[in-house]
Amino acid sequence: MSTTVQDNPQVLIRGVRLYGEGEPVDVLIADGQIAEIGSSVQAPQDAEVIEAAGQVLLPGFVDLHTHLREPGREYAEDIETGSAAAALGGYTAVFAMANTDPVADTAVVTDHVWARGQQVGLVDVHPVGAVTVGLEGKQLTEMGLMSAGSGQVRMFSDDGLCVHDPLVMRRALEYASGLGVLIAQHAEEPRLTVGAVAHEGPNAARLGLAGWPRSAEESIVARDAILARDAKARVHICHASTAGTVELLKWAKAQGISITAEVTPHHLLLDDSRLADYDGRNRVNPPLREAADAQALRQALADGVIDCVATDHAPHAEHEKCCEFSVARPGMLGLQTALSVVVETMLRPGLLTWRGVAKVMSEAPAAIVGLPDQGRPLEVGEPANLTVVDPDATWTVAGADLASRSDNTPFEQMELPATVTATLLRGRITALHGKSVAAGRSVATRGSGR
Ligand code: DOR
Ligand code: ZN
Repeated sequence: MSTTVQDNPQVLIRGVRLYGEGEPVDVLIADGQIAEIGSSVQAPQDAEVIEAAGQVLLPGFVDLHTHLREPGREYAEDIETGSAAAALGGYTAVFAMANTDPVADTAVVTDHVWARGQQVGLVDVHPVGAVTVGLEGKQLTEMGLMSAGSGQVRMFSDDGLCVHDPLVMRRALEYASGLGVLIAQHAEEPRLTVGAVAHEGPNAARLGLAGWPRSAEESIVARDAILARDAKARVHICHASTAGTVELLKWAKAQGISITAEVTPHHLLLDDSRLADYDGRNRVNPPLREAADAQALRQALADGVIDCVATDHAPHAEHEKCCEFSVARPGMLGLQTALSVVVETMLRPGLLTWRGVAKVMSEAPAAIVGLPDQGRPLEVGEPANLTVVDPDATWTVAGADLASRSDNTPFEQMELPATVTATLLRGRITALHGKSVAAGRSVATRGSGR
């Protein structure tokens, strides 16, 4: 299934409510910016018109945590398929993690990732640089060269692996602070997770799965908060997963420590009761925790203790997932289901309004990495990085219909609320009615009927 749309110079979005508030308005986009907002805007002759009565306009989403697998594991995902998934999910910027092959530990790799993303043109693919050479946790990378390269790396992480040596982490924070870049930590004390595949608790014990204790995460969160305090540096905690991490974040923020954190959609919605059938699609690092942890994470996101939602979109091929639970690769698709999960877990129960959704999916992540043109207010003169959402639609998730090259969604056959009907990157439509749209050409997507 594929589609093309002219490289539209002007777009009129009709009948949409900004942040889901107030009266419906028409929004005219020209020259990559919001040109006019009014109750009845005339469509210029060559404008593409998007009829969006009853729909919600939000700033385009920003994902601080995406695995696009290029270079090295293109059989699972590449920048083109991952960008299509991002555009369809309402994203206008994503941060592609460094655990590629070769590792993104030099400007050669990070510059390639940025350039390839721009060539595909569906979403800004910002490269994340590795903190340590080869993700080995020993020697710091040349962060300065990566941040000065054409990829302009703003965030560094050994995600998938924790920077566990406290001296290496201290030096990384000091170095990053001087460069004005961000260190994002996958908080996992490796000595506590040897062989672990599931949350350490009654379910893992009953199922005979090796347990991953909460303390593996919390001990690193506490340590890194203190290291950041003393280095007067910023630290970002990837995929917070426990109620204890929430308490530590509260404590650290109350001390004035520059710490931010993200939560994944899957940790908001799912818990370790899902493991009962040993389905490898539910294996993820950090593991799905208990229902009380998910509840604490939701409340923390509502309260601003956790700053934003990040997908940890982690494609894996069928042979890597459809196997014994303990050998299945950890990770789940997330880009096309994130909004719906946030609506289900946060908006429907009244924990967030649409304005709150804009904050946690766009404004806060853009601010954390300092992206000047993303997460901007919906006002005339602002860059047209936009997402149109149908709040009343529902859809049934089917991995085979998602744009990713892999199928490993944990939400298979779940009915979820809300769909992204259009995404615009600098005023150009990148996704429309469930099809991604690359500049001047068509991009094949596996038809989702969305
Ligand atoms: O489940 C995960 N998968 N967690 C990570 O930290 C890395 C990721 C991957 O690369 O597949
Ligand atoms: Zn991680």
